[in-house]
Amino acid sequence: MAASRELHDLLARETGLDGDKIAGAHEADIMLPSGKAIAPRSAAACLLDAARTVAFLRGTEAALRTVLARFPQRPVEMLYAGCGPFAPFALMLATRFGPAQVRATLLDVNPSSLGCARALFETFGLTDFVRAYVCADAATYVWPRELPLHVVLVEAMQRALEHEPQVAISLNLAPQLTAGGILVPERIAVDLCLYDPAREFAAADSGDLSEARRIRVCLGTVLELTADSARALARATEYPAPVLDVPAETRHLPAMLRTAITAFGHHSIGEYASGLTNPFPLNGLAGARRIRTRYAGGPHPVFRCERMDEA
Ligand SMILES: C[S@@+](CC[C@H](N)C(=O)[O-])C[C@H]1O[C@@H](n2cnc3c(N)ncnc32)[C@H](O)[C@@H]1O
Repeated sequence: MAASRELHDLLARETGLDGDKIAGAHEADIMLPSGKAIAPRSAAACLLDAARTVAFLRGTEAALRTVLARFPQRPVEMLYAGCGPFAPFALMLATRFGPAQVRATLLDVNPSSLGCARALFETFGLTDFVRAYVCADAATYVWPRELPLHVVLVEAMQRALEHEPQVAISLNLAPQLTAGGILVPERIAVDLCLYDPAREFAAADSGDLSEARRIRVCLGTVLELTADSARALARATEYPAPVLDVPAETRHLPAMLRTAITAFGHHSIGEYASGLTNPFPLNGLAGARRIRTRYAGGPHPVFRCERMDEA
């Protein structure tokens, strides 16, 4: 936690994000056809979510070591989509891998964020690690055909995959990975669950966030995002809309969406450990016999859940 804060403050000073250097149109969120690209200062603040930062950093390092063992080509190519103003995972890993081993392409739709990231690599003398700085929409970007793409890293999400374009970006980029390439996060799953508010918040208030204290009735996974599922979803005409049965004895319980994130291998983020894995309570579903859930992409990504109580 303290390390994330120190690093954030150092990088904010170096980029001028702690002052008023970033001003004008690009200090705001950018609304894209696939969701919201959050503003440079908000993107920078993601570094402070320590559990997220640790899981993504270690997961990305493990993914790079895996592709280095899997492929003979050097350097291996990583595309960091939505790198934000600090491109933190490329910046930190540039101290672990030489440019002959790994080359990163940094991409962000916000020119100010990308400019900050470029300035940091120049300040720290790490420019050899970067193949290119690309200002583009990652949901439509086309990777150069002549280069095999070994790792795609994207963290442009909020809990329950709402608001930001993680899904659209993954659907565009996963099919562009070379065979055997890795998408980070390796798996994101959103589950529809029932929960008992009394047990839920008593456990949280006592500081005991272990699963054992809470009640969970998992009705099913409503969206799973992996490289394979992203490729399949990219070919599909619409997102799945599973209809899940609610067991009669649990119908009095309210519902929530849970987000499980595995960056890579065993590097995952625990429930409640990060803003990305906080449960998302849903209203109006208690008593439902069946619930239909569909992810709606577009400019306002959200899950729509409706009761299917007829017969
Ligand atoms: C949640 S921030 C995270 C920043 C960085 N990945 C990190 O982990 O610290 C998401 C970043 O993705 C960028 N972004 C969101 N949607 C994008 C898109 N479709 N194309 C390119 N960049 C995008 C935003 O501008 C923002 O800088």
